[in-house]
Amino acid sequence: MRCLHRLVKSIVLVKEALLILGSKTQGRTGKMVRRTVDLRSDTVTKPTETMRVAMANAEVDDDVLGADPTAHRFESEMAKIMGKEAALFVPSGTMANLISVMVHCEVRGSEVILGDNCHIHVYENGGISTIGGVHPRTLKNKSDGTMDIAEIEAAIRHPDGELYFPSTRLICLENTHANCGGRCISVEYTDKIGEIAKQHGLKLHIDGARIFNASIALGVPVHRLVQAADSVSVCLSKGLGAPVGSVIVGSRSFITKAKRLRKTLGGGMRQVGVLCAAAHVALRENLEKLEEDHQRAKILADGLNQIKQLSVNMTSTETNMVYFNILESSCISPEKICEVLEEHGVLAMPASATSVRLVLHHQISESDVHYALTCIKQAVDQITAGSTK
Ligand SMILES: Cc1ncc(COP(=O)(O)O)c(C=O)c1O
Repeated sequence: MRCLHRLVKSIVLVKEALLILGSKTQGRTGKMVRRTVDLRSDTVTKPTETMRVAMANAEVDDDVLGADPTAHRFESEMAKIMGKEAALFVPSGTMANLISVMVHCEVRGSEVILGDNCHIHVYENGGISTIGGVHPRTLKNKSDGTMDIAEIEAAIRHPDGELYFPSTRLICLENTHANCGGRCISVEYTDKIGEIAKQHGLKLHIDGARIFNASIALGVPVHRLVQAADSVSVCLSKGLGAPVGSVIVGSRSFITKAKRLRKTLGGGMRQVGVLCAAAHVALRENLEKLEEDHQRAKILADGLNQIKQLSVNMTSTETNMVYFNILESSCISPEKICEVLEEHGVLAMPASATSVRLVLHHQISESDVHYALTCIKQAVDQITAGSTK
């Protein structure tokens, strides 16, 4: 048994050595690199051949006039998968969230309860306030991406306090929660928040940019996972690998209002079937690959944990994201390690003053993961030994 283990280990080491000796190509910085392993985000995927063919052959018409057949087909399919009445294709996840929040908070000065570390609050330019006139009431996101249920209930402000307070009209969740490590929000928690929203006459929106990752990791059908939500935004250009777009799903009347707002915001696109065709391929071909991304993320997290100076919280590695922390006592900064890795063609992004984020997607193979691990180990040794300029 021990012999077999040693043999497997040797094969892996030889494979890694071969990877590093592999052919060189031009990297992003113009320097020669051995290969590129782009772990900055799952938004970096390139359209596959099948997607390009589907785009070239898509049957299209003017979607602003409501006549694009490929867009119609795709939206109907998405509505069905998500278990909602209707769907709308929009250019980005940011626009999908903005439109959703604005439809639910039609009255200017309405309030939304959302996590202080969620994408809508942190990374969307405050659009819900500056464009939507919606007041954010942030609650602390726990490390698992949820907010405390008692705190949510206590934060709800009813219209009878109107003279002083904005009225709460919406609660937003994010599933998976990106800044919390791609963690999954359970169906039980989502149902509970939906129940509270209903009791108080509020709506529930889910930023489901990576809702399919959550559904697969939890083993819960996606329509069940979002059953309690009045609307969901789903990104097609993240783990699913489509080049462009997001979809909003909800009731028919919600989507009618969303369509009008999409036009107001400049998101009505004419022959949009070209994009929907690629998204349809992504749905058909890449959905089942998300599971492999999760498995590779675990291999990556486990490998990183074996590198002295680095640590990964394994319980938070539930889907396709891996955040590694750099030990405080170390002389390695996230910027420095990303800079050294880039010289090897491994692309990553600092996530905080002490951590780096790596994201898996269908164009990252298991061999890429082993290559990245080897390069990270080398970069750590190199920086620690003070051998970089
Ligand atoms: C959780 C989450 N929501 C929304 C978005 C916004 O998507 P987009 O970049 O398409 O605007 C992102 C983008 O990374 C995200 O991670």
